[in-house]
Amino acid sequence: MPLVLAHVLSAALHGIEAALVRVEVDVAAGLPVFTTVGLPDSAVRESRERVRTAIRNAGFAFPPDRITVNLSPAGLRKEGPWFDLPIALGILAATGSLKGNGLGSFAVVGELALDGQIQPVRGTLAVGLTCRRRGIGTLLVPRDNSREASAVDGLRILPAGTLRDAVALLNGESTPGPAPTAESAPAAADDLDFADVRGQAHAKRALEIAAAGGHNVLLVGPPGAGKTMLARRLGAVLPPLGGDEIIEVSTIWSVAGLLPPRSGLVRQRPFRAPHHTISVAGLIGGGSPPHPGEVTLAHGGVLFLDELPEFQQHVLESLRQPLEDARVTIARARGIGTFPARFQLVAAANPCRRGCPSLELCLCTPPERSRYLGRLSRPLLDRIDLHVELPALDAAEFQTSTGGDASRVIRDRVLRARERQRVRLRDAGLALNADLSPRQLTRFCPLTSEATRLLGAAMTRLGLSARGHDRALRVARTIADLAGAEIVAAEHCAEAVQYRGLDRTWRA
Ligand SMILES: Nc1ncnc2c1ncn2[C@@H]1O[C@H](COP(=O)(O)OP(=O)(O)OP(=O)(O)O)[C@@H](O)[C@H]1O
Ligand SMILES: [Mg+2]
Repeated sequence: MPLVLAHVLSAALHGIEAALVRVEVDVAAGLPVFTTVGLPDSAVRESRERVRTAIRNAGFAFPPDRITVNLSPAGLRKEGPWFDLPIALGILAATGSLKGNGLGSFAVVGELALDGQIQPVRGTLAVGLTCRRRGIGTLLVPRDNSREASAVDGLRILPAGTLRDAVALLNGESTPGPAPTAESAPAAADDLDFADVRGQAHAKRALEIAAAGGHNVLLVGPPGAGKTMLARRLGAVLPPLGGDEIIEVSTIWSVAGLLPPRSGLVRQRPFRAPHHTISVAGLIGGGSPPHPGEVTLAHGGVLFLDELPEFQQHVLESLRQPLEDARVTIARARGIGTFPARFQLVAAANPCRRGCPSLELCLCTPPERSRYLGRLSRPLLDRIDLHVELPALDAAEFQTSTGGDASRVIRDRVLRARERQRVRLRDAGLALNADLSPRQLTRFCPLTSEATRLLGAAMTRLGLSARGHDRALRVARTIADLAGAEIVAAEHCAEAVQYRGLDRTWRA
């Protein structure tokens, strides 16, 4: 039996990126010990037992020699069980069961069960993207992950169900079946329609504007007014994910282990609605090694925070960085993780803690009421372009009012407004009005003189800060885009100013 050094390429995850790892296996004469070096975590160290048993149960000989596995580069921390398969293949290559001629140009990931079955792992899509970038032509993956991996154009995917399959494929003794298509992800049933919500035309209009310009929105109203119902319908009027976004969002879900086995890519915009008891680590990400939080899982979609004032204050404050930078950076002793977090925030709140039906029937004292909404800090509110107050629906209104436009109709208007923005903002590298900086506002929001006067008067009358003025202007730009107007007119500004009402009510 030849006793040699073999190597197999694999990958380790860092944030949502994968880094290539060279798995070196040395089988040498000596006492039968099996050592793993190169910053392995406990799951990687445990892989010794799985590899030993899986190799035997797959019908191969396990060498009674001294085995040393080195995961290189040694400075990079390796976590998780997906080095099982590359380590097993390295041992089989070193002992001659695997011819290994072409092994250098392959990368391999997979967890082994004791009977030699290959278990799915998270992050296969990220590994595939790294392989393509680094010029590696073929990736051997667990069969259950082959569909997501196939989404990487120009990369040959070898799906394997067992260690024996993997060896046969790499030895050229069997040919892989037809590549699975990444296109066949099941489309989630979406039966939420805006037409189901009666009345509340003002709130629906605000959500249409939010969808068109990518603005964050806060809905304030008594219990049962339809806040949660409306927020859940926002996704139905947003444009579908674009090609690059599909890969980006799917990579996040793959790394987070949320893609179900055998599934394809995520094609629907994410809608995440964490409970108000969530921790900072759950919302922003955290842990060691860092894992993505809800803001990252909402990337490309909607983060819905229902009952906003009930969230712990420091949890709400932690939202400021991702809202500002569209990404989060988490530093831990065992590594830094940077995760994308570009999401649209939709928040809902009752006007008071007791959830009284209206201001007239409210049992709370004015100080109690202002304390409740006062828990939302100014910097957080400043990042929300649209504040919408919903009235309680009375019985007559509820019975007589209709649902208005269907989501499909609203979405067409949203798409047209987005296209206008895309064309206008292309040179500035932006796509949405919500992302306009104060300086870009001057350039991209030409105002009629009447509109300028109106905004100035609103600043004085409503006590709008300079920031509030800019927020209103951004929203006015989107309202003009929905109306198909290039110049922002007074009527657009007048409507936009209505959505800053809470600046005055709460913070005066
Ligand atoms: N405008 C509406 N049109 C149709 N149904 C409505 C409307 N508002 C409320 N409902 C009904 O009331 C239920 C509760 O609405 P929803 O959960 O959206 O209220 P909410 O404003 O979020 O209340 P809470 O403050 O208690 O969370 C809905 O499931 C729906 O059946
Ligand atoms: Mg609700």
